[in-house]
Amino acid sequence: MPVPLNARQGPESGKIDELARIFASKLLEWNSTENTRQMPWKGEKDPYRIWLSEVILQQTKVEQGLKYYENFTNVFPDVKALATAPEASVFKQWEGLGYYSRCRNLIHTAKHIAGELNGRFPDTYESILSLKGVGSYTAAAISSFAYNLPHAVLDGNVYRVLSRIFDIDVPIDSAAGKKQFSALAQSVLPEGRAGEYNQAIMDFGAVVCKPSPNCSSCFFNAHCKAFRAGHQDLLPIKEKKIKKKERWFNYLVLTCKDRILVRQRKARDIWQDLFEFLLLETGKVLERQELLDVFDRQYGKFNYRAGQTYAVSQQLTHQSINFQFMQLELESEKEIAGFWWIKKEEMADYAFPRTLQQFIATGLK
Ligand code: ADE
Repeated sequence: MPVPLNARQGPESGKIDELARIFASKLLEWNSTENTRQMPWKGEKDPYRIWLSEVILQQTKVEQGLKYYENFTNVFPDVKALATAPEASVFKQWEGLGYYSRCRNLIHTAKHIAGELNGRFPDTYESILSLKGVGSYTAAAISSFAYNLPHAVLDGNVYRVLSRIFDIDVPIDSAAGKKQFSALAQSVLPEGRAGEYNQAIMDFGAVVCKPSPNCSSCFFNAHCKAFRAGHQDLLPIKEKKIKKKERWFNYLVLTCKDRILVRQRKARDIWQDLFEFLLLETGKVLERQELLDVFDRQYGKFNYRAGQTYAVSQQLTHQSINFQFMQLELESEKEIAGFWWIKKEEMADYAFPRTLQQFIATGLK
């Protein structure tokens, strides 16, 4: 039977504390002897760089994140450089990471630190947590890595590891689960070694206690409560399934010789501030001719040559987007309110969502 955490008050509490102590100490030992994971932000003490790495890693896996981290720190070596850069150049560096509100928060916070805080990154957990776009996970990561402050990180990796070590079946996405796991994470944190421990538990979750875990080579398999009970593949438990909104984005890519029609997305929706082509969003899939009929009806009939359609879908956390791209080669440029014509070769200077970027690279003639 998984042990309910509230049993920590009862006779089980001593055993759980003991397990926590052994786990923390064996984890630190594993980290200093066997953990070979190399990452450029490991051991970094500059809170600005740690912040960048954590914001990037919320968006992508370590392998892809490396390139973004390197580019960001080269182009914007300190918070002032980021705060004073043209916003379009920051979006350009962010291109491909998705979830652009995070990039907007990054810019906002850099300006706040450079302007109101005299360029000094805050150095307490609470003041770091108060920065826009910084939640409890990122505040714990920055304050422990940069200042060794005693705050335990709790991200997907840590939920998974702790749910298994302690064999806890409380759903990690329930209010009760969040509260219990956050108290447990904090109680496992070893004194004086918060930064080292936080990095080690994330690495352990990434290389050993993975979603499909490598229990046979795990230093803790003799003690892990889930492994001993055969529960490791069942944990962690989630109660909610995300219900996704389905959308149909039909992109008409208007071109005229070496030029292409673009606009900047302004609405409070996905990809705010990024660039795109002429978009007809519909409530269902449209056949090629239906799409052309809708376009002609809305924009007036004029001469163009329509290419093939390319269909692709993209899964976001809360949305499933079905794309259809069709290039329309015009005989002469047409003015359309809100859009402008740019040279195709200038497209590299504008930040487009990843799926549009892929169409530009492979489908655009
Ligand atoms: N994921 C988020 N932050 C990380 C870090 N510092 N190291 C490894 N993976 C991470």
